[in-house]
Amino acid sequence: METTLVILKPSAVLHGYVGQIVQRFQQKGLVVRGMKMMQLSEGLLREHYAHLVDRPFFPFLLRSMQASPVIVMALWGKDAVEVVRMMTGATNGRKALPGTIRGDFSVSGQENIVHASDSIENAEIELKRFFKPDEIFEYIPSSIVYTYEPDELK
Ligand code: TYD
Repeated sequence: METTLVILKPSAVLHGYVGQIVQRFQQKGLVVRGMKMMQLSEGLLREHYAHLVDRPFFPFLLRSMQASPVIVMALWGKDAVEVVRMMTGATNGRKALPGTIRGDFSVSGQENIVHASDSIENAEIELKRFFKPDEIFEYIPSSIVYTYEPDELK
């Protein structure tokens, strides 16, 4: 089982899409193990998007990610990193397939609604970046036995 980081970006918060997006993850069977609202600082964003700081659009990305508070989530499940990335869709909302979150809620390369960790290694780093250890709750809902077969829970 894995835990992955999702950020509901200002484009989700300001459009009032938070509930619908959280519902999609829960409906899929992912367990919310952490969730909070925070205003992202420039320093945290420079760390989080270190691979993009030299790109010409970086000032716009900063402005976009600071336009409102965001919701950060820790989602737990089997192959959660890959499952959540598939649900997220391609970076550019115009290219993201219908049925994905970006495909259904966005039409932009920047205002693309969600961030999701892209690898197990990055999920570990990003969860530590956005959550303190006591903000992640390692409970298992009793419904889990109707979500997975026993072998999948090992
Ligand atoms: P990136 O890490 O490449 O993609 P993803 O979010 O799918 O993992 O990019 C991070 C964010 O930077 C992306 O969600 C939106 C923004 N961005 C732009 O605004 N323009 C761009 O050309 C790219 C590549 C990203």
